[in-house]
Amino acid sequence: MKITVIGCGYVGLVTAAGLAEAGHWVTGVDRDSLKINKLRHQEAPFYEKDLEPLLRRHLKTGRLTFTTSLALGVANAQIIFIAVGTPALSDGSVDLSQIETVAAQIGPQLHGYTVIVNKSTVPVGTTRRLETIIAQHTCRPVPFDVVSNPEFLREGNAVYDFINPDRIVIGTDSPQARRIMEELYRPFLKKKVPLIQTNPETAELIKYASNAFLATKISFINEIAELCEAVGADLPTVARGMGLDHRIGPEFLSAGPGYGGSCFPKDTKALIHLARSYGKQLSIVEATDAVNTRIQKAMLAKIIRILGPPAGKTIAVYGLAFKANTDDLRESPALSIIEGLLQAGARIRVHDPKALAAGRKVLGDKVTYCADEYTAAQDASAVVITTEWEQYRRLDLDLLKTKMAQAIIIDLRNLLTPEQVRAHGFLYEGIGRGSKQKVG
Ligand code: UDX
Repeated sequence: MKITVIGCGYVGLVTAAGLAEAGHWVTGVDRDSLKINKLRHQEAPFYEKDLEPLLRRHLKTGRLTFTTSLALGVANAQIIFIAVGTPALSDGSVDLSQIETVAAQIGPQLHGYTVIVNKSTVPVGTTRRLETIIAQHTCRPVPFDVVSNPEFLREGNAVYDFINPDRIVIGTDSPQARRIMEELYRPFLKKKVPLIQTNPETAELIKYASNAFLATKISFINEIAELCEAVGADLPTVARGMGLDHRIGPEFLSAGPGYGGSCFPKDTKALIHLARSYGKQLSIVEATDAVNTRIQKAMLAKIIRILGPPAGKTIAVYGLAFKANTDDLRESPALSIIEGLLQAGARIRVHDPKALAAGRKVLGDKVTYCADEYTAAQDASAVVITTEWEQYRRLDLDLLKTKMAQAIIIDLRNLLTPEQVRAHGFLYEGIGRGSKQKVG
């Protein structure tokens, strides 16, 4: 099928490359000419595992092309995906200006029946609103449908998630649009991926409710971690014991410095805002959001409690990205920890395998950027692990110790085994690791 994806950000680009891989002919459109130039030269504008090889392959097969011209991109497309940014406004509501502008631009370009699919995370009711905007901007009466088709990709695993989705959600009242969407996703449906066909409102809410539920799991386990420290229990073992109950499941039970990223903080707030606008209160989601803010602040207090006053000390921070396998810094807990430590007078040396360049744009010359963990640890009074990069599990602890002024590791991701680290002569603190006894 001929498909156009408007917006070559993280969601749009993975969708475009994934649909090309599924056998479709895809045009990616973005108003940012620098980005389009990079893409034409087979370069992803951000780091995402496995994305570049996919881009390269389908730029070669010709299944994937890129343009800055919306008119060109949209011409003859059977399906137009909208995947532009929907940032948060200060009151927690969602800024829909980009998506509305794109809808208005699509209108005049429609000539025959077209399915317009919204991939951006938007408040309930937006799909129908887009329908009205597009209809107002067509040159003559032309048939089209707008479908809600939320995405559930995780950054860092996005290509895998696109190719192996847990479910496909299609929200539309139009039987014709449903049939076309089924044809689009046939390669996935053949693999028995569950399909949910529903109305646009339900589809839109599935996305928000899923993200809010996952965020709730994280805030829940972060509070249990605090209790573990108080009562002398071991959080990873508690989480494992909980997760083996198949009704709970093992995932999203890793305690840490609070959730970040472009989705959970924004989407929980947007859902709270949406509910309030209907006179409803989502107290659990509100608590999830409040706990996350509190946990992030508590991390700084924890570091200071272990280390003493940071003024004049050098601290090595391992990880800038909000999670592993991405260079995305949006709402990264590492950033608020670094800012707090800088304000308290510490010198910061940072390492991140992928996000140093992105870090420079945000932190400028306030911190020292280091190419490896051991350089970052030079003269440090503590190493603070903020992102769960796999390589931090395999630190050469003896070498690390020779570099540091004080042998302290504060592991905010529970990557290391306390007994092992302590056996190397370190003072070690994880999250929720209250047990003084050996655990297995
Ligand atoms: C999330 C959803 O998982 C995805 O389905 C949706 O499409 C977009 O939002 P993403 O933001 O990429 O994806 O990252 P995710 O892996 O979900 O992690 C979000 C945050 O939660 C990160 O800061 C991560 O470190 C944190 N997290 C995750 C925990 O602290 N503990 C966990 O157990 C899991």
